[in-house]
Amino acid sequence: MSYADSLVFKPARYGSMSVRNRIAMAPMTRRKCGEDGVVTEQSVEYYRRRAAGEVGLIISEGVPVDSLHAADGPTVPHMETAGQIAAWKRVVDAVHEEGGAIAPQLWHTGPKAMDPIGPSSSAAPPRKDGQARPDVRAMEDADFEQVIEAFVSAARISREIGCNAIELHGAHGYLLDAFLCPGTNQRTDEYGGPIENRLRFPLEVVKAVRGAVGADYPILYRISQWKSEDEDKIKFRGPDDLEPVVVALREAGVDILHVSTERALDPAFPDVSDRTLAGWVKELSDLPTVAVGSVSLALMCNDSYGGEMARVADPGPEIELIEEGEADLLAVGRALISNPDWVQIVRDGDWRDLKPFAMSDLDTLA
Ligand SMILES: Cc1cc2nc3c(=O)[nH]c(=O)nc-3n(C[C@H](O)[C@H](O)[C@H](O)COP(=O)(O)O)c2cc1C
Repeated sequence: MSYADSLVFKPARYGSMSVRNRIAMAPMTRRKCGEDGVVTEQSVEYYRRRAAGEVGLIISEGVPVDSLHAADGPTVPHMETAGQIAAWKRVVDAVHEEGGAIAPQLWHTGPKAMDPIGPSSSAAPPRKDGQARPDVRAMEDADFEQVIEAFVSAARISREIGCNAIELHGAHGYLLDAFLCPGTNQRTDEYGGPIENRLRFPLEVVKAVRGAVGADYPILYRISQWKSEDEDKIKFRGPDDLEPVVVALREAGVDILHVSTERALDPAFPDVSDRTLAGWVKELSDLPTVAVGSVSLALMCNDSYGGEMARVADPGPEIELIEEGEADLLAVGRALISNPDWVQIVRDGDWRDLKPFAMSDLDTLA
């Protein structure tokens, strides 16, 4: 069945950004730079291929906002020096040449950084590869100012080189999320304790970035229930926990909430209803949302990225989420790594021709 007439393949406008359809590429860190943090020509072509495949909005891999504490490893692409900025501009130009829009994901890994900082001091969370990490240092006044300035500077640069929007990474246990989670935020000052305090720093970042980029420039903000190192720890036990967070983010200046889930279709609070988390966030915040998680993928296993291989599945039910107005954009991650032309294949009704995702697809920037 062709999905050509589905709303997800129709253009949309968010503030100053126009997208030719509502399919986004989910942010995926690839760790393929040299230690200089300069995005390579292979990355330029990797993003160009997804734009040429008619992805509406490319959300880039995480871009650390500074070289002090933001990065969790040496081979992620920065956007600070003239060389790093010029290389990102080549990505932006390539995406535009192919008719796409692009938002870099601005990222501070906080407690998971190489030189970690966070709301509170703690033993560093274990790394996936089992290697030890230095302990997390609790942020002091100067750190708060420095991190806000780093987000502002990265947002300004993004805008200057022609990015159509930015995404702030507020999910997965990284710095902004670490403030939100009571488990990682044990502060006793105005940044810890009740939710309005735990939200304070993420909101300060959003407000400062909004001030720097102007009123019309779209700011996406990614939130999640889960954190990679502690997936059982649920942050939002029900809509009442979610509402103050998403409303405050909207009031601080966020335009679109990107709701990170493992399966876009899963009910967020099954005891209440079968509405998805993206659906709840949209309902409670009155903002457009991005739904994501296992679109066109079946057979996810329980390890980080879905086991060795995932089978392909009909993305019809997720496409329906957009049709029904439960979410506004649909982000596709792993399936777009194995299928740069995902949009064209699915729109034509040929989803059975999608290549299944395999972990080995991550070895190269094909
Ligand atoms: C290799 C890889 C790297 C990822 N890196 C990031 C990242 O930098 N930032 C982020 O917010 N999510 C990241 N994610 C999560 C994806 O954005 C997405 O939410 C997840 O893969 C589920 O979507 P999918 O089932 O379509 O792959 C990553 C996922 C993968 C597979």
